[in-house]
Amino acid sequence: MSRPLLQLALDHTSLEAAQRDVARLQDHVDIVEAGTILCLTEGLNALRALRQQCPGKTLVADWKVADAGETLAQQAFAAGANWMTIICAAPLATVEKGHQVAREYGGEIQMELFGNWTLNDARDWHRIGIRQAIYHRGRDAQASGQQWGEADLARMKALSDIGLALSITGGITPADLPLFKDINVKAFIAGRALAGAAQPEQVAADFHDQIRTLWGDRS
Ligand code: 5RP
Ligand code: MG
Repeated sequence: MSRPLLQLALDHTSLEAAQRDVARLQDHVDIVEAGTILCLTEGLNALRALRQQCPGKTLVADWKVADAGETLAQQAFAAGANWMTIICAAPLATVEKGHQVAREYGGEIQMELFGNWTLNDARDWHRIGIRQAIYHRGRDAQASGQQWGEADLARMKALSDIGLALSITGGITPADLPLFKDINVKAFIAGRALAGAAQPEQVAADFHDQIRTLWGDRS
Protein backbone atom coordinates (compact mmCIF):
# COMPACT_ATOMS: atom_id res chain seq x y z
CA MET A 1 0.00 0.00 0.00
CA SER A 2 1.57 3.30 -0.96
CA ARG A 3 0.91 6.55 0.86
CA PRO A 4 -2.18 8.44 -0.39
CA LEU A 5 -1.70 11.74 -2.21
CA LEU A 6 -3.64 14.94 -1.53
CA GLN A 7 -5.70 16.49 -4.34
CA LEU A 8 -7.09 20.01 -4.27
CA ALA A 9 -10.50 20.25 -6.01
CA LEU A 10 -11.26 23.73 -7.34
CA ASP A 11 -15.02 24.05 -7.51
CA HIS A 12 -15.04 27.82 -7.60
CA THR A 13 -17.41 29.86 -9.73
CA SER A 14 -14.60 32.20 -10.79
CA LEU A 15 -11.19 31.36 -12.21
CA GLU A 16 -9.65 34.30 -10.38
CA ALA A 17 -10.76 32.93 -7.00
CA ALA A 18 -9.57 29.44 -7.94
CA GLN A 19 -6.17 30.77 -8.92
CA ARG A 20 -5.87 32.66 -5.64
CA ASP A 21 -6.30 29.37 -3.78
CA VAL A 22 -3.86 27.61 -6.09
CA ALA A 23 -1.26 30.28 -5.38
CA ARG A 24 -1.64 29.56 -1.66
CA LEU A 25 -1.92 25.82 -1.83
CA GLN A 26 -0.05 24.40 -4.79
CA ASP A 27 3.06 23.68 -2.74
CA HIS A 28 0.94 21.91 -0.12
CA VAL A 29 -0.90 19.45 -2.39
CA ASP A 30 0.15 16.76 -4.86
CA ILE A 31 -2.58 17.09 -7.50
CA VAL A 32 -4.70 20.03 -8.69
CA GLU A 33 -8.23 19.47 -10.00
CA ALA A 34 -10.11 21.81 -12.30
CA GLY A 35 -13.48 21.00 -10.72
CA THR A 36 -16.74 20.43 -12.56
CA ILE A 37 -18.22 23.70 -11.33
CA LEU A 38 -15.15 25.72 -12.33
CA CYS A 39 -14.95 24.09 -15.77
CA LEU A 40 -18.65 24.59 -16.49
CA THR A 41 -18.28 28.23 -15.50
CA GLU A 42 -14.97 29.06 -17.15
CA GLY A 43 -14.62 26.45 -19.91
CA LEU A 44 -11.29 25.30 -21.28
CA ASN A 45 -9.62 28.48 -20.07
CA ALA A 46 -9.69 27.05 -16.57
CA LEU A 47 -7.48 24.14 -17.62
CA ARG A 48 -5.16 26.29 -19.70
CA ALA A 49 -4.70 28.83 -16.92
CA LEU A 50 -4.08 26.18 -14.25
CA ARG A 51 -1.59 24.36 -16.47
CA GLN A 52 0.28 27.63 -16.87
CA GLN A 53 0.09 28.41 -13.15
CA CYS A 54 1.38 25.02 -12.01
CA PRO A 55 3.35 23.48 -14.86
CA GLY A 56 4.76 20.59 -12.85
CA LYS A 57 1.57 19.38 -11.14
CA THR A 58 -0.71 16.57 -12.13
CA LEU A 59 -3.82 18.39 -13.38
CA VAL A 60 -7.26 16.76 -13.46
CA ALA A 61 -10.16 17.78 -15.69
CA ASP A 62 -13.12 16.76 -13.56
CA TRP A 63 -15.60 16.85 -16.39
CA LYS A 64 -17.63 13.71 -15.51
CA VAL A 65 -17.95 13.01 -19.23
CA ALA A 66 -21.03 10.97 -20.25
CA ASP A 67 -20.71 10.97 -24.05
CA ALA A 68 -18.42 12.19 -26.85
CA GLY A 69 -15.45 10.63 -25.06
CA GLU A 70 -13.02 11.14 -27.91
CA THR A 71 -13.80 14.82 -28.61
CA LEU A 72 -13.90 15.83 -24.97
CA ALA A 73 -10.74 13.94 -24.06
CA GLN A 74 -8.99 15.59 -27.00
CA GLN A 75 -10.06 19.00 -25.66
CA ALA A 76 -9.11 18.26 -22.06
CA PHE A 77 -5.68 16.76 -22.74
CA ALA A 78 -4.77 19.36 -25.36
CA ALA A 79 -5.59 22.06 -22.79
CA GLY A 80 -3.11 20.56 -20.34
CA ALA A 81 -4.95 17.93 -18.30
CA ASN A 82 -3.11 14.78 -17.21
CA TRP A 83 -6.25 12.96 -16.06
CA MET A 84 -9.89 13.33 -17.08
CA THR A 85 -12.96 11.94 -15.35
CA ILE A 86 -15.73 9.94 -17.06
CA ILE A 87 -18.97 9.25 -15.23
CA CYS A 88 -19.73 5.59 -14.44
CA ALA A 89 -23.05 5.78 -16.33
CA ALA A 90 -21.25 6.43 -19.63
CA PRO A 91 -21.40 3.66 -22.24
CA LEU A 92 -18.25 1.51 -22.44
CA ALA A 93 -17.69 2.92 -25.94
CA THR A 94 -17.30 6.40 -24.45
CA VAL A 95 -14.80 5.12 -21.90
CA GLU A 96 -12.85 3.30 -24.62
CA LYS A 97 -12.68 6.40 -26.82
CA GLY A 98 -11.61 8.62 -23.93
CA HIS A 99 -9.02 6.08 -22.83
CA GLN A 100 -7.55 5.87 -26.35
CA VAL A 101 -7.02 9.65 -26.46
CA ALA A 102 -5.67 9.70 -22.91
CA ARG A 103 -3.03 7.15 -23.90
CA GLU A 104 -2.00 9.22 -26.90
CA TYR A 105 -1.27 12.09 -24.51
CA GLY A 106 0.34 9.90 -21.84
CA GLY A 107 -2.65 10.67 -19.60
CA GLU A 108 -5.28 8.63 -17.77
CA ILE A 109 -9.03 8.36 -17.43
CA GLN A 110 -10.58 8.19 -13.96
CA MET A 111 -14.03 6.62 -13.61
CA GLU A 112 -16.31 8.67 -11.35
CA LEU A 113 -18.42 6.37 -9.22
CA PHE A 114 -21.71 7.98 -8.34
CA GLY A 115 -25.05 6.24 -7.87
CA ASN A 116 -25.52 3.13 -9.97
CA TRP A 117 -22.59 1.00 -11.08
CA THR A 118 -21.59 -2.61 -10.57
CA LEU A 119 -18.41 -4.58 -10.00
CA ASN A 120 -18.97 -6.07 -13.47
CA ASP A 121 -18.79 -2.52 -14.86
CA ALA A 122 -15.53 -2.08 -12.96
CA ARG A 123 -14.18 -5.33 -14.45
CA ASP A 124 -15.10 -4.06 -17.94
CA TRP A 125 -13.31 -0.75 -17.33
CA HIS A 126 -10.24 -2.59 -16.09
CA ARG A 127 -10.35 -5.00 -19.07
CA ILE A 128 -10.16 -2.12 -21.55
CA GLY A 129 -7.21 -0.57 -19.71
CA ILE A 130 -8.66 1.82 -17.12
CA ARG A 131 -6.62 1.85 -13.91
CA GLN A 132 -8.24 4.59 -11.78
CA ALA A 133 -11.62 5.27 -10.21
CA ILE A 134 -12.99 7.90 -7.86
CA TYR A 135 -15.26 6.76 -5.06
CA HIS A 136 -17.59 9.67 -4.59
CA ARG A 137 -20.11 10.81 -2.04
CA GLY A 138 -21.92 13.57 -3.92
CA ARG A 139 -22.36 17.04 -2.46
CA ASP A 140 -26.11 16.77 -2.54
CA ALA A 141 -26.11 13.29 -1.03
CA GLN A 142 -23.82 14.53 1.74
CA ALA A 143 -26.04 17.56 2.34
CA SER A 144 -29.04 15.26 2.71
CA GLY A 145 -27.19 13.28 5.39
CA GLN A 146 -25.41 10.43 3.57
CA GLN A 147 -22.57 9.08 5.74
CA TRP A 148 -19.67 6.78 4.85
CA GLY A 149 -20.42 3.21 5.92
CA GLU A 150 -19.21 -0.40 5.93
CA ALA A 151 -20.84 -0.97 2.54
CA ASP A 152 -18.67 1.79 1.06
CA LEU A 153 -15.52 0.28 2.54
CA ALA A 154 -16.40 -3.19 1.22
CA ARG A 155 -16.99 -1.81 -2.27
CA MET A 156 -13.72 0.13 -2.12
CA LYS A 157 -11.84 -3.08 -1.24
CA ALA A 158 -13.56 -4.95 -4.07
CA LEU A 159 -12.56 -2.24 -6.54
CA SER A 160 -8.94 -2.43 -5.35
CA ASP A 161 -9.02 -6.19 -5.81
CA ILE A 162 -10.12 -5.67 -9.42
CA GLY A 163 -7.02 -3.54 -9.91
CA LEU A 164 -8.41 -0.02 -9.85
CA ALA A 165 -6.47 2.61 -7.90
CA LEU A 166 -9.02 4.53 -5.86
CA SER A 167 -9.31 8.18 -5.01
CA ILE A 168 -11.88 9.10 -2.38
CA THR A 169 -13.90 12.29 -2.20
CA GLY A 170 -17.06 13.99 -1.04
CA GLY A 171 -16.80 16.46 1.82
CA ILE A 172 -13.63 14.77 3.14
CA THR A 173 -11.86 16.36 6.12
CA PRO A 174 -8.68 15.25 7.94
CA ALA A 175 -10.84 13.80 10.72
CA ASP A 176 -12.50 11.38 8.26
CA LEU A 177 -9.26 9.69 7.19
CA PRO A 178 -9.06 6.96 9.88
CA LEU A 179 -12.20 5.42 8.35
CA PHE A 180 -10.19 4.51 5.27
CA LYS A 181 -7.02 3.26 6.96
CA ASP A 182 -7.34 -0.27 5.55
CA ILE A 183 -8.02 0.90 2.02
CA ASN A 184 -5.37 1.28 -0.66
CA VAL A 185 -6.05 4.94 -1.50
CA LYS A 186 -4.43 6.71 -4.44
CA ALA A 187 -5.52 10.21 -3.35
CA PHE A 188 -7.88 12.02 -1.05
CA ILE A 189 -9.65 14.75 -2.98
CA ALA A 190 -10.64 17.78 -0.92
CA GLY A 191 -12.43 20.86 -2.12
CA ARG A 192 -14.37 22.80 0.48
CA ALA A 193 -12.22 21.56 3.39
CA LEU A 194 -9.21 23.27 1.79
CA ALA A 195 -10.54 26.08 -0.36
CA GLY A 196 -13.12 27.14 2.21
CA ALA A 197 -10.73 27.23 5.16
CA ALA A 198 -9.48 30.36 6.90
CA GLN A 199 -6.00 28.74 7.12
CA PRO A 200 -5.92 26.37 4.15
CA GLU A 201 -2.18 25.62 4.52
CA GLN A 202 -2.88 24.37 8.05
CA VAL A 203 -5.69 22.11 6.83
CA ALA A 204 -3.38 20.71 4.14
CA ALA A 205 -0.77 20.04 6.85
CA ASP A 206 -3.45 18.28 8.93
CA PHE A 207 -4.30 16.04 5.96
CA HIS A 208 -0.62 15.16 5.48
CA ASP A 209 -0.13 14.48 9.22
CA GLN A 210 -3.12 12.14 9.23
CA ILE A 211 -1.90 10.40 6.07
CA ARG A 212 1.56 9.89 7.58
CA THR A 213 0.09 8.63 10.85
CA LEU A 214 -2.26 6.18 9.17
CA TRP A 215 -0.24 5.03 6.15
CA GLY A 216 3.26 5.57 7.52
CA ASP A 217 6.20 6.63 5.40
CA ARG A 218 5.39 4.37 2.47
CA SER A 219 6.02 6.14 -0.80
C1 5RP B 1 -18.26 17.12 -6.66
C2 5RP B 1 -16.81 17.07 -6.87
C3 5RP B 1 -15.88 17.76 -5.91
O1 5RP B 1 -14.80 18.28 -6.60
C4 5RP B 1 -15.37 16.80 -4.84
O2 5RP B 1 -16.47 16.24 -4.15
C5 5RP B 1 -14.44 17.50 -3.85
O3 5RP B 1 -15.07 18.58 -3.25
P1 5RP B 1 -15.57 18.61 -1.70
O4 5RP B 1 -14.41 18.17 -0.87
O5 5RP B 1 -15.93 20.03 -1.51
O6 5RP B 1 -16.72 17.63 -1.62
O7 5RP B 1 -16.30 16.50 -7.83
O8 5RP B 1 -18.96 16.40 -7.62
MG1 MG C 1 -14.47 17.31 -8.45
